[in-house]
Amino acid sequence: MTNTLKHIAIIMDGNGRWAQKRGLPRSAGHKKGAETLQEIAKAAADMGIECLTVYAFSTENWKRSKDEVDYLMNLLRQYLKSELKEIQERGARIRFIGERKMLDADIVAQMEHIERETENNDKLTFCVALSYGSRAEIIAAARQAAEEITAGRLKPDQLTEDVFSGFLYTAGIPDPDLVIRTSGEQRLSNYLLWQIAYSEFYFTPTLWPDFSADELKSIIADFNSRERRYGKI
Ligand code: FPP
Repeated sequence: MTNTLKHIAIIMDGNGRWAQKRGLPRSAGHKKGAETLQEIAKAAADMGIECLTVYAFSTENWKRSKDEVDYLMNLLRQYLKSELKEIQERGARIRFIGERKMLDADIVAQMEHIERETENNDKLTFCVALSYGSRAEIIAAARQAAEEITAGRLKPDQLTEDVFSGFLYTAGIPDPDLVIRTSGEQRLSNYLLWQIAYSEFYFTPTLWPDFSADELKSIIADFNSRERRYGKI
């Protein structure tokens, strides 16, 4: 059996432990993790996946040491300048979801530039969650809906699930069919809480820097063997 698989969402976890196991600084794990991300994004584009969303930096991650946050932001700068080009060349549309006002202005400018440049691409939608938190996203959407109602542009009974989804950062993106978390942790960490209502979950013990396109393929094979019922019998 083959299930519809339009959207894979990944929680990339375990960079720190990968580095620690090798006696390396945490930054070495993030560097290797960024290489893995590149491999997986390319594989997803080559496999014809419609959408891939990755959790690159959560709102909680701002609480890490200044050194680690600075390292991740510089890695992001590098990623925005060079690595994303390769994915873009494969016809991918790149989008960012999250709270932009926390990010440095040069990073936001680069993000907006990439989004504009790729907005008409129609292969993979590569969605990067940056400074992202799902509850904050839902609150922002609720506020927007309230404003629309107060302004008389929307009636309360017109606020359906579809209309509400349109107020989220992920507007226009189909809900994830499959959520993968690496490193053996089995929790969602404030990731896409509205969007994952009917998603399948796969938790792998592999640390993110060791994750590979081959493992992704075997997880997809497992997903295809599952019976998805969406609450029906
Ligand atoms: C989780 O590992 C990973 C992150 C917090 C960041 C994810 C970042 C990358 C994969 C690199 C690419 C990122 C950018 C910004 C281009 P962890 O540090 O929580 O690992 P641990 O749980 O083992 O400590």
